[in-house]
Amino acid sequence: IEDLPPLRDTVDFPVGVAIDSRETTGAAAQLLDRHFGRITPENHMKPEAWYDEDRTLRRHPEATALMDFAQENDLGVYGHVLVWHSQTPEWFFQDDAGEPLTADEASRTVLRERLRDHVFGVAENLAADYGPFGSDTNPLVAFDVVNEVVSDGGENPDGLRRSEWFRILGEEFIDLAFAYADEAFNETYAAPGSARPVTLFINDYNTEQGGKQDRYRALVERLLERGVPVDGVGHQFHVSLAMPVNALEGALERFADLPVTQAVTELDVTTGTPVTQARLIDQGYYYRDAFEVFRAHAEDLFSVTVWGLTDGRSWRVDSGAPLLFDDRFQAKPAYFGAAGAELPA
Ligand code: G3I
Repeated sequence: IEDLPPLRDTVDFPVGVAIDSRETTGAAAQLLDRHFGRITPENHMKPEAWYDEDRTLRRHPEATALMDFAQENDLGVYGHVLVWHSQTPEWFFQDDAGEPLTADEASRTVLRERLRDHVFGVAENLAADYGPFGSDTNPLVAFDVVNEVVSDGGENPDGLRRSEWFRILGEEFIDLAFAYADEAFNETYAAPGSARPVTLFINDYNTEQGGKQDRYRALVERLLERGVPVDGVGHQFHVSLAMPVNALEGALERFADLPVTQAVTELDVTTGTPVTQARLIDQGYYYRDAFEVFRAHAEDLFSVTVWGLTDGRSWRVDSGAPLLFDDRFQAKPAYFGAAGAELPA
C-alpha cells in the first residue's frame, strides 16, 4: 500500500470509490484513504435503505458509518440516490389500501408529497447530525437526484423509462425531484452564505452508446430549457474491454457545450472470463487510456468514481475482475494504468 503513488495525486479532478461500511476499517480503509478523495455509498442511501416497516425515514447504520468515516478522513461524499425506479419501497406507489396509485390528480398529489417528504427527509436527516451542507462538518458534496430515467430503447418519443414514477407523474417527476433537492440541500439545510454546496446530478448508464446518449442529451436540454436546477450529468461507464475508449470521450464531449458539470459515476471495466494475465494487462492499458481521456477533460469533470475498491466486492466480478485492486489489496495493472505509471510486465 505504502509504495504506490496515491491515485488522487496523479489527476487534477477528484477521484472517488463506491463502498459500504466494510471498507471503512482495516486494510481496506487504509488503501481507500491513500488513493481516493471521495466516496459514494454503493447501496445505503438508496430510497429503500431509509425506511423500515413503519415507513418512517431513518438513516441506515451503514450510511452513518460512511458519513462518519468521510468526516474523520476529510473525504467528500457523493450521495446516491434520491429517486430511482429500483430499490424503492412499494408503498411509495400505493394508496392507503395498498392499491396502485393511478395517474388521477389525487394520486399525483399523493406521490408529489411523498417525493417532497423523501427528499426533504434525507436532507434534514443528514444536516441534523453533520451540520448544514457547505459547513466544515458536513462531507456531502453531491447527490444523484434521479438515476436511470432514460429508456434503453427508442420506442417512446420522450425517451424516458416507463417507471412507476413516470406512469403516475410523467416527466414532471424529474423536474420536481430537482426542485425539491435544490430547495432542501441548497437552501433550507445549507449553511448561510454557502453557494449551492451540494451539486445535483442526473445519472445514467450506457451513455457512451448512440441511441441512449441521444435520448439523454435531449432530456438534459429540455430540463435546462425549463430552468430545472440540474448541475451535473453523470456517466456510469460500466464497460468492458470491447468498448472503445473513444466512446467514453465521445460521451463527455457530447455534453461539453451545455452549462453543466459532468462526472464519471460508476466506472468499472470487465475483462471477460477466464481472467488471464494477458487480459489484466489489456485492462491496464484500457484504464490508462480512459484516465488519459479524463485528464484531458479535467475542466469539465466534477469527479471520477470507480464502482468498488476490490474485485471480489464488485457487482460484476463474474464478468471478470473489473476494478483497480485485487482481493489482497494489491494494485493490479489497472491501477498502474489509471495512475499513468508504467505497467508491470
Ligand atoms: O445486503 C443483502 C444481504 O443481507 C443478503 O444476504 C444478500 C442476498 O442477496 O443481499 C444483500 O443485498 C444486496 C446488496 O447489493 C448488497 O450487497 C442486494 O441483494 C443486491 O441487489 C445489491 O446489488 C446492488 C445493485 O446496485 C442493486 O441495488 C449492487 O451492490 C450495486 O453495486 C448496484 O449498483 C447499481 C447502482 O446503484 C446504479 N447503477 C447500476 C449499478 C450496478 O447495478
